[in-house]
Amino acid sequence: MATRWQKFAYRQLPDVSDARQLPVSATAAHQITPRRQRFAFCASTPVDWFRESRLLTAVLNAYSLLVPDNERYYIRILQQHLHLIDDPELRGSITAFIRQEAQHGIGHEAHWALLRTQGVDVDSFTRVANRVLYKIIEPIIPLPVHLSIVAAIEHINASFGQVFLSRNLMADAAPAIGALFDWHFAEEIEHKAVAFDVLKACHRSYFIRLAGALLAFPMFATCISVGSLWLLARDRRPMSWRKELRTAWRFWISERVLPDLFGQLLLHLKPGFHPWDDDNSNLARAILEPIDAALPAEIGISTTSEIVDNAQGGSRAA
Ligand SMILES: [Fe+2]
Ligand SMILES: [Fe+2]
Repeated sequence: MATRWQKFAYRQLPDVSDARQLPVSATAAHQITPRRQRFAFCASTPVDWFRESRLLTAVLNAYSLLVPDNERYYIRILQQHLHLIDDPELRGSITAFIRQEAQHGIGHEAHWALLRTQGVDVDSFTRVANRVLYKIIEPIIPLPVHLSIVAAIEHINASFGQVFLSRNLMADAAPAIGALFDWHFAEEIEHKAVAFDVLKACHRSYFIRLAGALLAFPMFATCISVGSLWLLARDRRPMSWRKELRTAWRFWISERVLPDLFGQLLLHLKPGFHPWDDDNSNLARAILEPIDAALPAEIGISTTSEIVDNAQGGSRAA
């Protein structure tokens, strides 16, 4: 239900009805296919499942812990804008986007179940994060800015997709978890323009886009940082900080993962930017085409059990 703030915000936007006539989008040229992936994580998956690094694993686990409620937030916000969109193709893209995001949440909650069996403290962090983000902060932000925040976080997700898939970074992960992230990142690229196009259709103002990005980027960095430190603090195993920091430095700095992520993020701030200015759909297709070939139809189900089986032999089929 819209809060008083949100109702107020919409009354202040005289151009909303005009904006419905804006031409939309490159999105229509990029088909979005909802897929139902099921992941059977192997009980013997290493706790430090990425590059045997506790620090890097904590960062990716924090990302995984934030995903399901974050996806529900995107869905909530886009659903509240559906009545403003007349273009049938964009409406179709929104529906497909919502179905994809719902599946991402399910996939990452399956990952949570594995983490719980490994003794990772999933619930205390998600409980606090959800309270702060969605009970305290969400109600005080006007709805147009929420839409802009969603567009900005979608750009972050697609940037992760660009950087991780172009370097095949998840080849260094435990196989089924790597497959979960690859599938998620690929679909983030596939639907990367949807929230942006909804924002463009509802609000012409560059400053609303900028406001969302200036809130979303630091909030995302804070959530990931706090989440990673929280998980590390709850992990009682002895740890060599020297070794962990060396591994993290190599990954984020020497391999240029962090600078390239920053470079991607800055693109969102350009006034004339559109997510499909950079058509990196080939990265998504490389992951998604084999999945689609194995599925009987849209919203088919595939499992990663064969990937888990292969994991015993140390190879990954994804
Ligand atoms: Fe997602
Ligand atoms: Fe997304």
